[in-house]
Amino acid sequence: MIIRPAKNILGSIRMPGDKSISHRYAMLAAIATGNTRLENFSTGADCASTLGCVRQLGCSVKVDGQRVEIEGRERLQKPAESLDCGNSGSTMRMMSGILAGQDFECDLHGDESLSRRPMARVMVPLRMMGAEITAAAGDRPPLHIKGGAINGGKLRAIDYKSPVASAQVKSAVLFAGLFADGETAVDEPYRTRDHSEQALRAFGVELSRSRNRVSLRGGQKLQAIEALVPGDISSAAFFLCAAALFPESNLVIENLLLNPTRASLLDALKLLGARISVINLEEHHHELVGTVKMEHGSLKGIKIEGGMSVSLIDELPVLAAIAPYTRDGIEIRDAKELRVKESDRIALVARNLRAMGAECEEYDDGLRVAGNQKLHGAEIDSGGDHRIAMAFSVAALRAEGESKILGADSARISFPEFFTMLEGVVER
Ligand code: S3P
Repeated sequence: MIIRPAKNILGSIRMPGDKSISHRYAMLAAIATGNTRLENFSTGADCASTLGCVRQLGCSVKVDGQRVEIEGRERLQKPAESLDCGNSGSTMRMMSGILAGQDFECDLHGDESLSRRPMARVMVPLRMMGAEITAAAGDRPPLHIKGGAINGGKLRAIDYKSPVASAQVKSAVLFAGLFADGETAVDEPYRTRDHSEQALRAFGVELSRSRNRVSLRGGQKLQAIEALVPGDISSAAFFLCAAALFPESNLVIENLLLNPTRASLLDALKLLGARISVINLEEHHHELVGTVKMEHGSLKGIKIEGGMSVSLIDELPVLAAIAPYTRDGIEIRDAKELRVKESDRIALVARNLRAMGAECEEYDDGLRVAGNQKLHGAEIDSGGDHRIAMAFSVAALRAEGESKILGADSARISFPEFFTMLEGVVER
């Protein structure tokens, strides 16, 4: 994909459905009573992997564009073949929680990138609950799971203090907790996205929360829902950051997910100096949704660390990619998790910034990108990572000369429409 420099970002757009919410609605629909009907379901390949797994587990799944209907089953069926999670860590980790509570054994595998990602984070608590889980090499996929309900058993409820701030881990434990005897609790070092909690409530599950702790009682039954999935704010991030680069930009995004545990990007952009307003705020199935209007201000600098790094984890690559165009630069710390995403995102961001002529300093847990730098077009190595491909397509809009994004096709993992929609709002 060739990206040429732009002059401006103008338009009014809507994002396809949020990836995190689409995964959760699809998984919970599989174990709910009745038919769940979803609109604006994520168009990304990751959520298609989840739907594929749900089908392999015996549920009827009808897909008509962005409409999805899933028939829940009282008991999931043992899959005939290994569950294919594709590139999706969310699918493998969160699905493991559900599979831990079943009365059969099964395997899960993924593509080359997923096969390199750590799974101990879910294997440890799910084993404590009584599931048997083994990985092929250490804790890397493929996984083999022997559910705790084999021989009529039940999982044990646990009170789990998670060493890592990961919504996927929290979700896996809570989903397994549905099949456990007693009250399962998860405590996390920093608050992570709470879509599983909100989705569980939407499907009729009662849970209690206080600060970074959430718990639920096992044995609760789920009821199917009808829902419109809010627009994905992590996909919108590329457009918001692109708009932030040009003085005359004016961008409106409707039906956007604004859950406070996901919307820190708006705070980060405001801190940087962008002008952002939110209107038409509504709540659907406990998720906040609204319209975001964004104009450019002059971008200053920002340091992102602690809980802010956790809640911005998927948006950090694009923020780092636009950092050279700010006045004072951007420093990111406490973001070591970026090294075990679909790629080592710290290393790839640093390499690609340097390829475009920017200076940056790489740390074990983040990076510092100086402000006020001029970038030139370059050949970008996305490493097959969707968020790197899209982040540097944004950086390329204000560089001098064209950039060539290698592996741009990876955008299909979360946002297949990205390049077409970008062309629709770019003025040259
Ligand atoms: C996600 C949680 C985050 C995020 C991923 C989606 C989720 O991962 O990076 O893209 O939907 O729960 P971790 O839970 O591993 O931090």
